[in-house]
Amino acid sequence: MKWGINGSSDYEILEPSCGDGVFLEQLRENNHKFKSVTAIEFDDVEAEKAEKIKLNNKDVINTDFHLYCNETTQRFDLVVGNPPYIRYQYFQEEQQNEAIKVFNRAKLKYSKLTNAWVSFVVGSSLLLKEKGKIGFVIPAELLQVSYAQQLREFLAHFYNKINIISFEKVGFP
Ligand SMILES: C[S@@+](CC[C@H](N)C(=O)[O-])C[C@H]1O[C@@H](n2cnc3c(N)ncnc32)[C@H](O)[C@@H]1O
Repeated sequence: MKWGINGSSDYEILEPSCGDGVFLEQLRENNHKFKSVTAIEFDDVEAEKAEKIKLNNKDVINTDFHLYCNETTQRFDLVVGNPPYIRYQYFQEEQQNEAIKVFNRAKLKYSKLTNAWVSFVVGSSLLLKEKGKIGFVIPAELLQVSYAQQLREFLAHFYNKINIISFEKVGFP
């Protein structure tokens, strides 16, 4: 979060899958300055928890990120998050259709074997302002698996700088 905001107080921030709001908590605890934060969460119970976090200029939206991504006209300076790891074959049909639209917009091919974190990375990229940046927790398999090949190419063309922070020890249980 500190890396992302980098001292700017006019940032419009998006958290595309906020869960109970750990990233929102970070904004609050560290008293980061920003203009607005939009947080999306599909699960009603988690969204309600995120809604309770006391933070000015915060908007929690209980919806599918893909749907939001395809409908919004807002653009962001910073997208931060920890997207879900779910294979599309387990998505409801409506969600799959919205994910397909995200892939089409980026001229990428959709496959049911691809994982949801891929369309979160792609969709979030499409919602950035020209000089926007994105900070995501994503699996290291990004670097190897064949289903992420087109994502690697997309990222290499879309961004002018990519930092990878990896850990020797497993960071998440
Ligand atoms: C890995 S958790 C991360 C939650 C939180 N950002 C954190 O770091 O603790 C992923 C979250 O994505 C939510 N999610 C799953 N599918 C979603 C979708 N299509 N749109 C928005 N949120 C979704 C899940 O309910 C879950 O809360």
